[in-house]
Amino acid sequence: MGLEFDDAFIQAEEHRPKPYISEAGGIPVIDLSPIIAGEGEAFSDLVAEVGSACKNWGFFQVINHGIDGKVLERIHAAAREFFALPLEEKRRVRRGEDNPLGYYDAENTKNVRDWKEVFDFVTNESAELPATEEPGEKRTDVFWNQWPEYPPEFRDVCKEYSKEVEKLAYKLVELISLSLGLPAKRLSSFFKDDMNFIRLNHYPPCPEPQLALGVGRHKDGGALTVLFQDDVGGLDVRRKNDGEWVRVKPIHNSFIINVGDIFQVWSNDTYESVEHRVSVNSERERFSIPFFFNPAHYTNVKPLEELTSEENPARYEEYNWGQFFKARKNSNFKKLGKENVQIYHFKKALLAN
Ligand code: OGA
Ligand code: NI
Repeated sequence: MGLEFDDAFIQAEEHRPKPYISEAGGIPVIDLSPIIAGEGEAFSDLVAEVGSACKNWGFFQVINHGIDGKVLERIHAAAREFFALPLEEKRRVRRGEDNPLGYYDAENTKNVRDWKEVFDFVTNESAELPATEEPGEKRTDVFWNQWPEYPPEFRDVCKEYSKEVEKLAYKLVELISLSLGLPAKRLSSFFKDDMNFIRLNHYPPCPEPQLALGVGRHKDGGALTVLFQDDVGGLDVRRKNDGEWVRVKPIHNSFIINVGDIFQVWSNDTYESVEHRVSVNSERERFSIPFFFNPAHYTNVKPLEELTSEENPARYEEYNWGQFFKARKNSNFKKLGKENVQIYHFKKALLAN
């Protein structure tokens, strides 16, 4: 037995997907092969390409990224097998009030239920988060991954995937740093005690795809997202130049990259974290696997000094990443009936000029 449709899934009319969403004029596709040589004209062109994709779209797709297709096949198969298990088996590793990691089938985005089930794990086996959302909280809680017994290779396959995708994420952060005029490794120290997590998403066929969403519209709160999707399609991105939703056309064995809220703040709005959502359909189930590249929980996020000046003052107050993350997780876990935390809550009131 899978998800059963009820009113909790129904989106307000203005947020429902239109029956047809165009794939035309979609996000840029970037060939990463110049990374191998690492310098020269092709590499400078790549940095420029990444920069304009971040600026104009906040999203791009990468090919020739160096991750073997077999690694992708293995994690896709493991996700398929896990979600095909009986519900009571999946619930043995269920996420709870006191552990945000594991299986869950009732997540909300902006207080509306998503048509999906997920499995979350962190790449470091455990994650540390501030104990409360009180300003200056020093106490932390530690959470551990919950691994299912079936399929037996699940954990190894997840580990293999996370190692590969983490390497790719580091390279992408270097390219983005260069595109902002920073040294390649300028941001590396933020990720030393990273809080990277991976989510396996399963979107079953939905009887009412015009009323519900697989994931409601949202922006990713972390630094960078590296997403693998199968060939079904359903990820919609809000195009910056006209605000229209466009569907990302699946390219076999590619990754979809987007800058999250933290890059928006670090870059003082040079790059923006762009809204996206997942449409579902009544025929085909879909799998996707986002990797969320996140700094250490104790990181205080604020615009980078090199990217601010007297003419371009910092537009954000500093905020604690761990507490931001925790607040988001809580509001997705239970409907709090209020808007969840967003970076604009930290936006400074600037004098208009
Ligand atoms: C997410 C997300 C997109 C997808 O989980 O934050 O945007 O295609 N997922 O599953
Ligand atoms: Ni997202």
